[in-house]
Formats: sequence, C-alpha cells, structure tokens
Amino acid sequence: MQHPYNLRSFESGELIFTEGSRGDCAYIIESGRVEIFVESDRHAIPLKVLGPGEIFGEMAVIDASARSASARALEACSCMVVSSSQIAERIQSSDAVVKLLIGMLLHRTREYNQHLKGTPDAGVYSPLDPVRPDPAVAAEPQRLQAIDKMRLESEFQKAICSNELMPYYQPLVDLKTEEIVGFELLLRWQSPKRGMVAPDLFVNLAEETSLIIPAGFWALEKACIHLHCFQQAIQTLKSTAPPLFISVNVSVRQFQHPDFVTTLMTLVRRHRVAPAQIKLEVTERIFLEGAVALEAIQQCCQAGFSISLDDFGTGFSSLNYIARCEIDSLKIDQSFVRQMFSDGKTPVLMQTILYLTKELQMPSFAEGIETREQMEALRDLGCDIGQGYLFGRPLPFEATLKLLVTPPLWQAR
Ligand code: CMP
Ligand code: MG
Repeated sequence: MQHPYNLRSFESGELIFTEGSRGDCAYIIESGRVEIFVESDRHAIPLKVLGPGEIFGEMAVIDASARSASARALEACSCMVVSSSQIAERIQSSDAVVKLLIGMLLHRTREYNQHLKGTPDAGVYSPLDPVRPDPAVAAEPQRLQAIDKMRLESEFQKAICSNELMPYYQPLVDLKTEEIVGFELLLRWQSPKRGMVAPDLFVNLAEETSLIIPAGFWALEKACIHLHCFQQAIQTLKSTAPPLFISVNVSVRQFQHPDFVTTLMTLVRRHRVAPAQIKLEVTERIFLEGAVALEAIQQCCQAGFSISLDDFGTGFSSLNYIARCEIDSLKIDQSFVRQMFSDGKTPVLMQTILYLTKELQMPSFAEGIETREQMEALRDLGCDIGQGYLFGRPLPFEATLKLLVTPPLWQAR
C-alpha cells in the first residue's frame, strides 16, 4: 500500500522483495519488524530481524546489483522508501577510500550469504573457506588508486615524526627597497621511497585527513626556530635591519582544531618569537567553513599575529569578508601577475585591488613575479611586497641563510 511522504505499509507475512530481484530503493522501518533471509535448496535461512529505525535494501542500490537476500514483514509494518538517488549519488561523490571500503563490505556480505546457502544444515556454523583472492577485483584501477592513497597517507604520517618533512623558504621582497623582508614557508616531503613528493599531492592529502594538524604545528615550530637564525644573519650584515617575518600557510582544519590558538601561543613563547613576525596565510575557503575558524582567526589577531588572505581573486573574493574579518594583508594570486601584460582587463583589476588595499591600509603582496618588468609594473601600481622566481625559488634552510647574506641578484638584473 502506497502512502503520501513515500511511506509503504506491508501486511504481516508479506514479501517485501526477493533475493536476486532488481533493487531500486531502500527502506527505513518506521514501525513493525522485518526479517531478512536467504533460501537454500531446502529451507529459508534467517539472517537478521530488523526493527524501527533500521535500514534494509541498501546494498542493491549502492552498486546497482541484485538483492542479496529476501525481506518479509514479520508483522504489520510501515517503511519509508529511500530512493536510489538519495543513496547512489552520495556514494558516487564520496572519497575514493570510502568507496573502496563500502565496495569491500558489500562483497564480503554477499559472499557470506552465498556461503550460508551452501551450508548443509542451516543454523549450524561452518567456517568460510579460506579466502581466495580475486585477481580481477584486486587489479581494478579505482581500487589501486584508493589503496595507493591510503599507503601515501600512512607514509606521510610516519614522515612527520621521522624527519622527512623539510621547510623550504621563498623570499618576500619589498618592491620599493628591493630587499628581503620575509619568507613564505613551504612544506616539502623527501620520501625515502618516493623521492620528492609533489607538494599538491601531500598537502591535499594532509588536509583531507587530520594529518594537517601535526604537520602544521611542525611547520609553525620550524618557522619560529629558523626566524631567529635568519634574523641574526641579516643583523650581522646590517644592524639596523628591520625584523623579518615568516608566512606560514594555515588551513581551515587547523584553525578549527580546539587547541590551535593555545598551541600556537605556546610555540611563540617557547621560542621567544614576537607574534607579529609570524604571518598566517589563509585562503578564502576559511569563510565558507563557519564560525569556529573565524573565531580562532580573531583570537590570533588579538594575540598579535598577522593574517594574510592568500590566492586573492581566485575564490569568491567576497569583499564583505574583508570587512568582517581580521585580515590585514592581501596576496594577489599569481594568475593575475602572469596575465598582466597579455590582456587589457587584468591590469585594471589589479589596479582596483591595489587601490582597495591602499585605502584600507592593508599591505599588498603579489606572487608569481618572474620578470623585472612585472616587478616594476607592480611597484608602479602600488603593490608593496613581491614573491616569485625573479627573487628566488623556495630553498632549504641553509641555502636561505646564504641568500640572506649575499647581495641580491635581482637588483643588478
Ligand atoms: P539488498 O541487497 O539491497 O537487499 C537485501 C538486503 O538485506 C540487503 O540489501 C541488506 O539490507 C540486507 N542484508 C543482506 N545480507 C545481510 C546479512 N548477512 N545480515 C543482515 N542483513 C543483510
Ligand atoms: Mg601561501
């Protein structure tokens, strides 16, 4: 019987569906009890009795297969119908690892049901045959991809505590004086098995899991330690040199961590670093992820850290957020710099962004500067600080120290 709101009623003893039939929906039991069973040559083998709040019939919907068992109402039942789109679309859009785990569980349950059907005496336990791996299943490309992802995650977890991560530093240069004023810390992973792992690969992976938390604290601590060394190096050269700063990328997940602000404060105190010398780079995604992260940003700001909006102009660039949040500098994305001489619109957009930063008294950064021409054009447009291959690629700690005490090449170019 069909009800409004997709409720279906079944009479006591009514068969809801049979094993092997096509399944196009799942059910949630609102009232009554449902028995799940498989049939062998001689008898029905009960698998489970389900009651209110429980779901059944989901397996066939998840991977568009036949029903793995039959279902019968043990008493008058009312069930809510869950459409295939409610389930299948969610599974399709889920993470590769989640898909792999679900696929594996479905496969095992179906195997188990088939095994029970072949057991001579229903109800008498007989252990499953030793698993014979199915080479076709093992070689599926999606499966291999998901397994490689989990392998990479496990290796990255180990990398954090076994010195395989390295901070690299890319210079940030004052476009007026052409002197280095700070560095952006960029995380690199030198894996003993894989060599240098592409940063995009492991940073995304770390952000998808909670691994970004220990890796992020590790990077912040390195920044504090190395800042002293950089500061000393520059002051031996020029005693009046202003304090350097280090920019560290911080993801939404880190800001959402309940201990983020206190741990950050402990780190700067332990290493005697002024919070103003640490710039936290956030992306516009932070504004989509709710109040917890914004609250943490506010606390960091009150503690004296400076907050920079990274990749500006590529996200949704809602100006409203600049007003609402404690952002104190903007970093114009490198795609603008790359296009600044190739179309008429980009320079106008950049001019407008830079005008905005001036009026709001926020320092402006531009990344991806590769030529002197780009650097001069940006300086003439009023951009304060530049980053890019013209000034230097990201370098390991020792090479960065050397760079600080060598006269910069870009000035002579
Ligand atoms: P589906 O395969 O769509 O149809 C039969 C349903 O019975 C199945 O989804 C599950 O919801 C449920 N089911 C199958 N096998 C078992 C089992 N071994 N134990 C409990 N429930 C099962
Ligand atoms: Mg950055």
